[in-house]
Amino acid sequence: MTGGARGIGQALVRALCREGADCLFTYLSSSSPANALAEEIRESGGRAVPSMLDVRDYDGSRKLVAQAKEEFGRIDILINNAGITRDRSLFMMSRDTWGEVIETDLTGVFNMTQSCITTFMKQKSGKIVNISSVSGIRPMPGQVNYAAAKAGVIGFTKSLAKEVAPYGIRVNAVAPGFIETDMLMQLQEKRRTTVLDEIPAKRFGLPDEVARAVLFLLSEKAAYITGQVIQVDGGLGI
Ligand code: NAI
Repeated sequence: MTGGARGIGQALVRALCREGADCLFTYLSSSSPANALAEEIRESGGRAVPSMLDVRDYDGSRKLVAQAKEEFGRIDILINNAGITRDRSLFMMSRDTWGEVIETDLTGVFNMTQSCITTFMKQKSGKIVNISSVSGIRPMPGQVNYAAAKAGVIGFTKSLAKEVAPYGIRVNAVAPGFIETDMLMQLQEKRRTTVLDEIPAKRFGLPDEVARAVLFLLSEKAAYITGQVIQVDGGLGI
């Protein structure tokens, strides 16, 4: 799983380990929160291994998947969670700001998925969940880079679901609305208040509420579900 040391990713690591999965998760820069999470999981009897990865790095992604196979013997699940926002009006958006988000949020999904897919095809099983966003479905102004990347993730999910269904591989996406993480805190307080007003449920979501939707898609209860997007957004995307 990518981007596991905080926010939605951290809730996902905890949820997966609670369900008995061994989990390799990535962090980008600071190892201490990742190590603390791994220790917490170890103390509760689970197994979570942190590894540094920038998902923009194709070769690094391939090496990470090889490491996961060596560590655990096999891989059954890939969760593409890492993502960033760099919101700006288009007229103010530099080429670099555009590229940073596309490379992380969309090409990162390609890098990791491409690195896993042959393994899944050979073993004729595998489950992939991509974390998109309500912004890929009902975007706000000022985030053409993020909206394009997250809509791209949905297209990627649907196309790949068709491609690999004959191999017993399921590919789905979860599109969170506004979830209480560091990413939400990057929004100015005034904007958060405006957004809150637009959410039919009148509250922000919790990382664990996203994790529960992911767990469902990974479970046998979802055995016949592929190529779908579950919105976990308190009704924002309606
Ligand atoms: P966060 O900012 O707390 O966590 C993002 C994670 O991605 C971090 O662990 C970070 O280290 C990792 N990351 C960033 N760039 C990376 C790179 N180049 N390589 C590897 N890892 C990288 O954000 P949050 O909220 O936990 O976001 C998780 C996912 O959920 C993201 O894909 C985000 O777009 C999506 N999302 C979040 C929403 C929210 O309201 N918090 C709403 C909709 C979608």
